Amino acid sequence: MNTHPRSGMEIAPVSHATVDNEMNVRSGVPTPDTMKRAFSLFPSGVVIAATVDASGARHGFTASAFTPLSLDPPMVLLCLNVSAQCFTAFSEAKRFAISVLRPEHRDHAMRFATRGGDKFEMGRFRSGPFGMPQLDDAMVNFECSVAGRFPGGDHIILTGLVEHVCYRESGSAMVHFMRSFRHQAI
Ligand SMILES: Cc1cc2nc3c(=O)[nH]c(=O)nc-3n(C[C@H](O)[C@H](O)[C@H](O)COP(=O)(O)O)c2cc1C
Repeated sequence: MNTHPRSGMEIAPVSHATVDNEMNVRSGVPTPDTMKRAFSLFPSGVVIAATVDASGARHGFTASAFTPLSLDPPMVLLCLNVSAQCFTAFSEAKRFAISVLRPEHRDHAMRFATRGGDKFEMGRFRSGPFGMPQLDDAMVNFECSVAGRFPGGDHIILTGLVEHVCYRESGSAMVHFMRSFRHQAI
């Protein structure tokens, strides 16, 4: 058994060498850099997660670590880096909204992935029935009450009970793959 360089946990033996053959396959002990690369090869949708703090200030970030979780009860799952500026707001929030982005929301995706300032001044946000900020023309808007918070390495895992949902039946969704924004027609 090898020991993981950061966590100290035992991991299955793998080659330490980076292997580059005709198939351009790389393997080795996971590091933050190789994990970032490996995770970028998992195509995902892109959302803006948003909440409002006790003072009424809005907070939000771009996320791909979002997944549907349960149908009955209706639940979603979201992961937020503990080093995010909006971490405190989300860790104290009772509710949050998720807006599933369309290809035309690239600027919103970039802005909400960039720290600082009032991200919402870009516009196109309105309050949902439970007061959470939602992107007006998103593919889907979920408004959720926080059901649970769990530690997950350098992220916190939030689960949300969906209290309101609004979606389009046509259009195309934004997809993030190999660190670039693409789109998936439906
Ligand atoms: C496509 C994309 C997906 C992202 N997914 C996540 C995610 O799932 N969780 C997360 O914590 N940060 C994610 N980020 C990074 C955050 O959006 C970014 O660090 C943001 O600025 C954090 O919020 P802050 O401005 O309050 O610090 C993603 C960024 C991009 C561009």
